[in-house]
Amino acid sequence: MANKIAVVTGGAGGIGKAVVSRLARAGFDVCIVDQNDKAGQELVELMRQQKYNAEFYRVDLKRAAEIKILFDSIYGKFQRIDVLVNLAGGTLHKHPITEFPLSEWREVIDVNLKATFLCCQAVSKGMREAKSGVIINTSSNFGITGSAGRTAYSAAKAAIIAFTKSLALEMAPYGVRVNTIAPGLTATERVMAVHSDEEWRRLSTSMPLGRAGQPSDIAEGVNFLAGDESAFMTGQLLHVNGGMVFN
Ligand SMILES: NC(=O)c1ccc[n+]([C@@H]2O[C@H](COP(=O)([O-])OP(=O)(O)OC[C@H]3O[C@@H](n4cnc5c(N)ncnc54)[C@H](O)[C@@H]3O)[C@@H](O)[C@H]2O)c1
Repeated sequence: MANKIAVVTGGAGGIGKAVVSRLARAGFDVCIVDQNDKAGQELVELMRQQKYNAEFYRVDLKRAAEIKILFDSIYGKFQRIDVLVNLAGGTLHKHPITEFPLSEWREVIDVNLKATFLCCQAVSKGMREAKSGVIINTSSNFGITGSAGRTAYSAAKAAIIAFTKSLALEMAPYGVRVNTIAPGLTATERVMAVHSDEEWRRLSTSMPLGRAGQPSDIAEGVNFLAGDESAFMTGQLLHVNGGMVFN
């Protein structure tokens, strides 16, 4: 029997790479979805060298038409998707509200929230018919606390939590589970690049557990939500943040 199939959007990113590799170790064949062609190709090569099955799909998740082609092609090839992890996202643009261009606001919402909606929509029919499946969406500590300059990002990440609860209720009668993971400060290139070394040290050591998260910390949370160990969890928000934020 073919392995189970996991689809990871943003799979070539900092947290994404760790998630792809963790799910592969758990026995999934992994479809990596990302707009970063070079990072995606390199990751697939690495996974194959390690004898895992992985495919890379270069997609701009802002574009609904590309998302449709993506899922048509994955279902065409594998006839199933067992786990969808919506990780693509990020702050992307940070401005005071008076200077936030609408085009950039839309981009933040589109990548973080609209793409999550469209990818969930694309797998829902297949998962309902299979009467099984797991969806994991990604929020952030800023989806709970807010953050000056991040009105778009924090709005999108807060919306993902409520979206996930609603979808969990819709999908529960079909045995499909939908949960949110919320990383806190996590050491990825994208995030570290916006801080000086000194600032990063200060931020990391001010965390209750005394360090920033590693992508592997988040990957363990995703793997837990993807597996049968969390079989009785749906609609939940799992914080993996060293105690940075509660609730
Ligand atoms: N790193 C952190 O501290 C942190 C904290 C809280 C939440 N998060 C969330 O975790 C997720 C992953 O974050 P990360 O730090 O790994 O970021 P990252 O930038 O390293 O990875 C994001 C990936 O998404 C891809 N992507 C972005 N826009 C895309 C698009 N339009 N189409 C296709 N792919 C696209 C990028 O190419 C990249 O590979 C994000 O949703 C982020 O908001 C991260």
